[in-house]
Amino acid sequence: MKAKQKRMRNSGKNIKISVNNIIAGYTDEGPENAPVIIFIHGFPFSKEMWNKQMEALRENFRVIAYDVRGHGNSYSGTDDFTIELFVKDLLSLMDVLEIKKSVLCGLSMGGYIALNAIENHPYRFESLILCDTSCKADSPEAKDKRMKAIDDILENGIEKFADDSVKIFFAPDSFSTKKELVAEVREIMINTSEKSVIKTLLALSKRKETCSKLSEIKVPVLILVGNEHKITPPEAAQFMHEEINGSVMSIIKNAGHLSNLENPGQFNELLKRFLQNK
Ligand code: MLT
Repeated sequence: MKAKQKRMRNSGKNIKISVNNIIAGYTDEGPENAPVIIFIHGFPFSKEMWNKQMEALRENFRVIAYDVRGHGNSYSGTDDFTIELFVKDLLSLMDVLEIKKSVLCGLSMGGYIALNAIENHPYRFESLILCDTSCKADSPEAKDKRMKAIDDILENGIEKFADDSVKIFFAPDSFSTKKELVAEVREIMINTSEKSVIKTLLALSKRKETCSKLSEIKVPVLILVGNEHKITPPEAAQFMHEEINGSVMSIIKNAGHLSNLENPGQFNELLKRFLQNK
C-alpha cells in the first residue's frame, strides 16, 4: 500500500485554498513545527486586522489568520451564512492544512465562532483567546437593529453602514489620535460586498448562545476587552470569566471594540504572557 504523503506547507501571505466548497484567503507564517495559533477576525473586517499580532508572534509560533467566508479574499459561496457554517469552514481549513490541534483567538464575531467551535469540537483546540466578544445571543432589540441595518444598506449602500459602525467601534480618543487606523478599518469595511454584509448580519442575528456551555470548557482561556467598549462591554467579558473555570481576564486600556488594533502593545504583551504560561 502507498504511504500517505505529507502535504507540502504553503507558507506566506494571502494564500488561496479550497475549503468547504469555497476558495478562502489566509496567511500562514512562522516555523513549521511550532505550536499553531489561528486568528479569526470580527465583522465586517478581514485577516489584515491581525497583522500586528502575527508580527509579534511569528518567531515562536506558526500563526494563521484567515478571511471568514464573504470577507477579505474569501468567497461567499451560495449557502446562507450561519455561525455553524463558519465553524465548518474553520474545521475544514484545519483539516486541509493537516492541523490536528491549535490555539484559537477570535475577536467579536471571531469569538462567537471560536466559542461555537470549542463547544462542538473541544478536542481540536488547546487553548482559547476571546477578545471583545460575548457568549450571549442577540436580544430582540439587537435583532431588530440588524434588520434595520439591512434595510439601510439596501437603501443607502455600504459606505453609510461603515460610517455609522465606525463611530461605535473605537474609543473616543482614537478618532483624534489614531485617524489612520480608523480610515484603514473603514476601508476594509467598505471593501466587503453588500451581499456578504447582509448575509453575515442575518447569521449574527440568528446565532445561538454559548453561555450555558462555558463551564464545560477545559482548556486555558484568556479573555481580553477594551475598557471603552460599547458593543460587548467589560461586563460581557466578566460574565464569561466567571463561568469559565480558571480563565484569565484583562482589560485593555485606551481601547473600544478593536482592542488588538487600538492598543497592540498591551494586547500583545498579554497574549505572549498567556501563551508562555498556559
Ligand atoms: C464584530 O465586530 O464582529 C461585530 O461587532 C459583532 C456583532 O455585530 O455582534
